[in-house]
Amino acid sequence: MICAPATRESYSATAVSCQAGFDGVNRDSFFQRVKNTAMGTIARQEHRLRTGDNIVVRSPVPDDVQALLAHRRELFDEGDFVVTLPEEYDFTDEHELEKIRQATDNPGNVLIVAETAGRIVGMLGVESRARQRLSHRATLYITVSREWRSRGVGTLLFRSAIDWAEAQPTIEQLCLAVFATNVRAIGLYRKFGFLEEGRQPQEVKFGPGQYVDGLLMYRFVKRFTE
Ligand SMILES: CC(C)(COP(=O)(O)OP(=O)(O)OC[C@H]1O[C@@H](n2cnc3c(N)ncnc32)[C@H](O)[C@@H]1OP(=O)(O)O)[C@@H](O)C(=O)NCCC(=O)NCCS
Repeated sequence: MICAPATRESYSATAVSCQAGFDGVNRDSFFQRVKNTAMGTIARQEHRLRTGDNIVVRSPVPDDVQALLAHRRELFDEGDFVVTLPEEYDFTDEHELEKIRQATDNPGNVLIVAETAGRIVGMLGVESRARQRLSHRATLYITVSREWRSRGVGTLLFRSAIDWAEAQPTIEQLCLAVFATNVRAIGLYRKFGFLEEGRQPQEVKFGPGQYVDGLLMYRFVKRFTE
């Protein structure tokens, strides 16, 4: 859990207009401006993709469990972009409900879904580190269903997550890990200002002699001056 007491206050990311910027932010004035911020939920947003499709971006609710499990299964079965194998994941309703609960109850975490025609086609999670000295740095992950890729869904999810993180009181930095071969994902991350912070040679082994490097990327969302 996040230890700084201020993060436990009940905030709502929706009411926040935080221009924290990157030049340094006084912590007290920031908290005054974001009085309403940052439980692990976002307000529902409706968007139209450049393809004309309508997409809702929102926080998940318990009724989404089956749709979330289907989305995760699709990604793990595809297998190309994640380290987790299908048999390594707990595809039970209870586990998925716990995921939703952890995201919505912890002010340093958020889970965001993209939905169209009652189907979840994209999901983004941000998880803060538990240790107080690492809790200013949160890890982000994202997936979009195969047939919905390159249509702008990832961009909507990312924009929403960065808005949330900018308004969230403790998070100063977002970080992520990506296969060095994942050109589309790296394109999305660069578009949102993520920079490379390291490379893990042959981090992932797909099979005998089949390795992929891992890339670590980060982006500041605000910098406190004290
Ligand atoms: C990576 C992923 C989340 C991106 O989501 P998306 O909905 O496809 O992304 P968008 O359509 O919003 O595109 C965002 C940016 O990504 C880049 N991009 C998109 N498609 C691309 C492609 N085919 N090749 C290279 N870059 C591409 C571009 O920079 C694009 O911005 P632009 O549309 O302004 O040019 C999605 O493709 C996905 O889920 N892939 C499989 C799972 C995965 O790789 N997850 C990340 C693991 S670290």
